[in-house]
Amino acid sequence: MVNYKDLGLVNTRDMFARAIKGGYAIPAFNFNNMEQLQAIIKAAVETKSPVILQVSKGARNYANQTLLRYMAEGAVEYAKELGCAHPEIVLHLDHGDSFELCKSCIDMGFSSVMIDGSHLPYEENVALTKKVVEYAHQFDVTVEGELGVLAGVEDEVCAEHHTYTNPEEVIDFATRTGCDSLAISIGTSHGAYKFKPEQCHVDPATGRLVPPPLAFEVLDAVMEKLPGFPIVLHGSSSVPQEEVDTINRYGGKLEAAIGIPEEELRKAAKSAVCKINIDSDSRLAMTAAIRKVFAEKPAEFDPRKYLGPARDNMEKMYKHKIINVLGSDGKLAQC
Ligand code: G3H
Ligand code: 13P
Ligand code: ZN
Repeated sequence: MVNYKDLGLVNTRDMFARAIKGGYAIPAFNFNNMEQLQAIIKAAVETKSPVILQVSKGARNYANQTLLRYMAEGAVEYAKELGCAHPEIVLHLDHGDSFELCKSCIDMGFSSVMIDGSHLPYEENVALTKKVVEYAHQFDVTVEGELGVLAGVEDEVCAEHHTYTNPEEVIDFATRTGCDSLAISIGTSHGAYKFKPEQCHVDPATGRLVPPPLAFEVLDAVMEKLPGFPIVLHGSSSVPQEEVDTINRYGGKLEAAIGIPEEELRKAAKSAVCKINIDSDSRLAMTAAIRKVFAEKPAEFDPRKYLGPARDNMEKMYKHKIINVLGSDGKLAQC
């Protein structure tokens, strides 16, 4: 049994309370490899932001669970080496789908876990979430539950249609499970294809497709039922069109990739939404930079020469999110 506190990690409790009070959100960035982790930590340190490192079940399968855990431990030391004396880094399991997976992560030193029972019948979701909370809280590990189903397709996270969170269920769910935060469904979804073009309208100024607004009335109703309770938004990549254009210019084929407009996320971050999940934008930033090097320098075969620019491009994107979208810059409790 490894306790996350011995690794220099923190849970989400204090940072969420401060984020809700301060009207900003904590970035939750997924990582699968060293370059992503380096970019996340550099961005967080240089902007003096708390940060949540997310590991999905797919990431564990891809990179090995033990290696990822040691990388997160290394990330704390790396942040200190970069000049941040008191980093606030959470190691979080993203979309845990069983008690056993959550327990295994807690036992390995994760400081936060998500148990995603959103696809289960309501009472089963309550029972599973409660079981994870009871185990996690013995070690002061925080737990995110989910109510409502997001649409979208990811390797490990798949749903055809979304069902908005029912605000009538949130008090019962939070009280009976004891979860520390709640992911809700208000129209975001996973991946780079969040909306069909026919759901969007064309912005005459830019010619870009503009998706329908998020269901802020659902968020408002949830906040009314659970005042001050930490709310989480999954599926919050904006799918920057410059990155999509770069990918397509250099041989990619991403057709009609549409994300959540940043103004909507800025608005959400000012509310009780205190954790915003971003993965796809990192994938796009990485792919765009790599494709550009491959197209412009076809003789290049040193991985550092294409993974380096990919890392720089991800770092730029993470900083942009922290400073211009979530507003978590300068929010470390101690510098
Ligand atoms: O919510 C899903 C995340 O983007 C993780 O995706 O399961 O492909 O690692 P993944
Ligand atoms: P995106 O696919 O929009 O980046 O969402 C990531 C996510 O919700 C991870 O849990
Ligand atoms: Zn998610």
